[in-house]
Amino acid sequence: MDIFTIIPQWPVTTTLVIFSIFYVFLRTLKSNNSYITNPKLPPCPPKLPVIGNLHQICGKPRHEALWKLSKEYGPVMQIYIGSKQFLIITSPAMAKEILKTQDHIFCSRDHFQATKRLTYNFSDVAFSPYNSHWREMRKLLVTEFVGPKRAKVSSHVLVTEMENMINDLSSYPPNTAVNLSNMLMEIVKQMVCKVAFGNNYRRQPVKGPSWHLLIHQVLELLNGSLGDSFLILGFLIDQFSGFNRRLNDGFRSLDAYMDAIIDDHIKNKSDQETSDEDRDFVHTLLDMMLKENATSYRPNHADLKALMLNILAGGIDTTVETMIWAMSEINRNSRVMLKLQSEVRSCTGRIRNVGELDTKKMTYLKMVVKETLRLHSPVPLLIPHLCLSHTEIAGYNVYPSTPVLINAWGIARDPSTWGENAAEFYPERFENLDGDFGRDRFEMLPFGGGRRSCPAINTAPANVEFVIATLVYWFDWELPGGMKCEDLNMEDGGTLTLGKKMPLCLVPKKHI
Ligand code: HEM
Repeated sequence: MDIFTIIPQWPVTTTLVIFSIFYVFLRTLKSNNSYITNPKLPPCPPKLPVIGNLHQICGKPRHEALWKLSKEYGPVMQIYIGSKQFLIITSPAMAKEILKTQDHIFCSRDHFQATKRLTYNFSDVAFSPYNSHWREMRKLLVTEFVGPKRAKVSSHVLVTEMENMINDLSSYPPNTAVNLSNMLMEIVKQMVCKVAFGNNYRRQPVKGPSWHLLIHQVLELLNGSLGDSFLILGFLIDQFSGFNRRLNDGFRSLDAYMDAIIDDHIKNKSDQETSDEDRDFVHTLLDMMLKENATSYRPNHADLKALMLNILAGGIDTTVETMIWAMSEINRNSRVMLKLQSEVRSCTGRIRNVGELDTKKMTYLKMVVKETLRLHSPVPLLIPHLCLSHTEIAGYNVYPSTPVLINAWGIARDPSTWGENAAEFYPERFENLDGDFGRDRFEMLPFGGGRRSCPAINTAPANVEFVIATLVYWFDWELPGGMKCEDLNMEDGGTLTLGKKMPLCLVPKKHI
């Protein structure tokens, strides 16, 4: 056979070889990755073109609508909001799978346009994707704000605030109803802002909305927009609904507020050296930013502001709402109030200063706060977790970039877990329950779980316990105007966090 007879056969031979290789490759891919060709997906309620399942959750609180759907479709289901698919988890076993067994796969966060803008391109802790930057930021927040280093300063500020509150309440004429919701908000705001931003934090943003309105607007924006779920139409939806304008305005006001605080710190630093006692979170981070040859992580300006946002948006409302719900529940339930007061007063004896109150041994108080967090999880759907790589949950395929909503609200109220009296406020149910929720147990998840769990999981309940103990030690409480316990409005409302819809007003009676 000479060279001229072989050459014309080459293309045929080559084509055959390539096809054979391609065929073998496809066969292998199919047998290894049958999830691509034949995926088993979680059940999904019937959806409509374009909007998906939006009509099934629209107009109702999302956590309640999703809980109702899960009763029909099971503890692992999927829903579509527009073109975006979400995995919905509604049982302790499945929550454990996401937050513990496969935590390494579900520990990232989704990208939303509002979170991107407000967190300076995900420079923060709560909305940052899972990466080395998140690790550094979380370490900074824990060591410099929520950890034991600042706990002493926080409790000092809290004691002063509680002393002022007792004096205020004692000076009111008898039978005056006070708005406890407003009072507790001021106390927590003062505590958090003083520790984070120092004495010279501005009570009121220089321009724009009031402080409370600003935080409320920021929380609403962080809750996301409809446009995030509609790929092509998204921008138009957000433009016409006014979301983009609200986002721009909200960001500008927040940015100006935080800039003013940072500028104050820089100015004061050059005026005089700040004593160690007066050094707050912003001082510490500014020092780190300016340090030459630092061996540890050096945050930049955007990192600092993103962490300030996490403190403002994550640290205040959640804590205040838990305090308000706890006071509402115990005032609706005289048996619990009497038992709690008896424990707090007998453990404490006669004291004159708030600083002498020690809650460590008050076991019933801890159960009361736990029960409050069970019935009133302040973050009902946690912050959406994001799947990083293909995996299976309960035999269903879950793909990378799928956002996961864990219905902490529903899980914590489920009678199949908590028994017939699941809806009742009954702190004694924790008497024989050992283990940490979100770490070893998943029947309630007020602080989420896994590596994205709340960094304030230990300090926040301690602050709530301290405030409740102070309130019930120094005062007896009554509902105003002869109102009956069962008439107290217990409706909830809110966006990212779930607070009491109507303010809590009570009449204090000085006990000692
Ligand atoms: C009673 C008070 C609080 C409750 C109930 C609460 C609840 C939560 C929940 C449910 C999450 C989401 C966890 C998850 O997605 O798995 C979270 C995350 C977070 N919380 Fe809290 N929180 C409270 C207080 C605080 C405080 C005082 C701070 C202080 C700054 C804070 C900062 C954060 C941050 C930064 C994250 C994001 C963590 C991450 O993604 O790595 N929280 N919190």
